[in-house]
Amino acid sequence: MSILTILEFPDERLRKKAALVKNVDNHIKQLIDDMLETMYHAGGIGLAATQVNVHLQILVIDTSEEKNLPLCLMNPEIISKDGEFEYKEGCLSVPEFFEKIIRPGRIVVKGLDRNGEPVEIEANDLLSTCIQHEIDHLNGKLFVDYLSPLKRQRIKAKLDKIHRLEGR
Ligand code: NI
Repeated sequence: MSILTILEFPDERLRKKAALVKNVDNHIKQLIDDMLETMYHAGGIGLAATQVNVHLQILVIDTSEEKNLPLCLMNPEIISKDGEFEYKEGCLSVPEFFEKIIRPGRIVVKGLDRNGEPVEIEANDLLSTCIQHEIDHLNGKLFVDYLSPLKRQRIKAKLDKIHRLEGR
């Protein structure tokens, strides 16, 4: 397994739309393992393939306290949503920034599991938020897009500065 490089806002590659996974082969399974390792290593609770510059509809999540319940979902599709849940969201692609976002609090999502088998998941609260946040990534959308232009611009300026200092 290996730790992958996570793209950071405002990198334009985070805006690409991910393609459907057609065939869950060993290459894809290796990628899933690497994404999980990368997510755990970075201390995140979710990671989309887009964030590691792979533009396929794959996401990994672990919202458990013990970090021992990895969830992988491919080609996710939300089939119902209702309610509201507010959470102070962060993102491994927008490091150190956290903002309150309101999203539907209960969703049903279908897709493929790690083995390419169809699954349907009902998710509430944090898991619901996390799945929606990761699906946004696959569509080239970031949580900062829900903020005011002014707030988003401030975050961009701060990250631009950090990236400059790091010589990126
Ligand atoms: Ni994110």
